[in-house]
Amino acid sequence: MNVLYELTGPVVHGRGKGAAAGFPTANLALMEGELLPPAGVYATRAELSCGVFTGVTNVGTRPTADSREDVTVETWLPGFSGNLYGEQIRLHFLHWLRGISRFPDMAALKRQIDLDAQEAQSWAGRFPDGIGFFTFSAEETRGLSQRLAPLLPTGSVVVLRGEMGAGKSEFSRGLARGMGITGPVPSPTFTILNEYDEGSLPFYHFDWYRVSDEEELLEIGAPDYLPGRGVTAVEWAERAESLLPAKRLEVFLQPVGENARLILFSALGGAENPALRLKEDFSC
Ligand SMILES: Nc1ncnc2c1ncn2[C@@H]1O[C@H](COP(=O)(O)OP(=O)(O)OP(=O)(O)O)[C@@H](O)[C@H]1O
Ligand SMILES: [Mg+2]
Repeated sequence: MNVLYELTGPVVHGRGKGAAAGFPTANLALMEGELLPPAGVYATRAELSCGVFTGVTNVGTRPTADSREDVTVETWLPGFSGNLYGEQIRLHFLHWLRGISRFPDMAALKRQIDLDAQEAQSWAGRFPDGIGFFTFSAEETRGLSQRLAPLLPTGSVVVLRGEMGAGKSEFSRGLARGMGITGPVPSPTFTILNEYDEGSLPFYHFDWYRVSDEEELLEIGAPDYLPGRGVTAVEWAERAESLLPAKRLEVFLQPVGENARLILFSALGGAENPALRLKEDFSC
């Protein structure tokens, strides 16, 4: 399965143009044929031997007008100064910030990259345990959540965030499969809640898209499932945010191009992030 969750390698020399403009970038040496994130600018967490830093990582062609079209992975670590050449860097991708654009001059690029840095700091600050996985098809998204399912303890609440078509329902289908549910898993858009009892644990699948207020959820007894006696997945939790328990797994699904998704996991409320164990799963 083509699942990418980190890039590691030594920092190699770029051309020093960023350094001259006030944002030196650490260029990651890439291996031939290595799986890479889709082109774009990302909020990342960079692990170095001397510590963990927030990064703004540009994947793709170089961001100033240039004839070279080679792919590079360049990371600016705002607030870090020091020599990184030869150091090992491990990059975790948290959020896709924007597509690659060309800038008329270095000053314009600098203004944008300062905004990128602020946004990156905000993601890294909100989700210090955040770990992102790229999937490259709906099948891979289902495969990822299928592997996650057995790692979820009884009483887990999994909040699925992302725009329409991001893959929240596909992700839920994989969860159901991973719990041993074999039948169809239709979207609960009209039913609000679909319940499955044939798996290893009860599975409660909510979609609050059509819910107008909390009242409506209270009437159907939603709090009994938040948490419930099994695993609860919630799509469109934004409709009644205050019903969510403090202890939950946040999952952000972000389309990055047509078929790729960046899926960020973060455990809130003191739970261990089960996605950290997913990483071990994909390491062999
Ligand atoms: N990597 C991917 N992961 C998940 N879905 C993908 C991926 N690439 C393409 N797709 C497609 O995107 C769509 C995701 O649909 P899905 O119903 O899961 O979205 P959703 O987030 O639940 O939307 P809604 O808010 O309408 O409920 C599917 O048609 C799926 O085939
Ligand atoms: Mg859905």
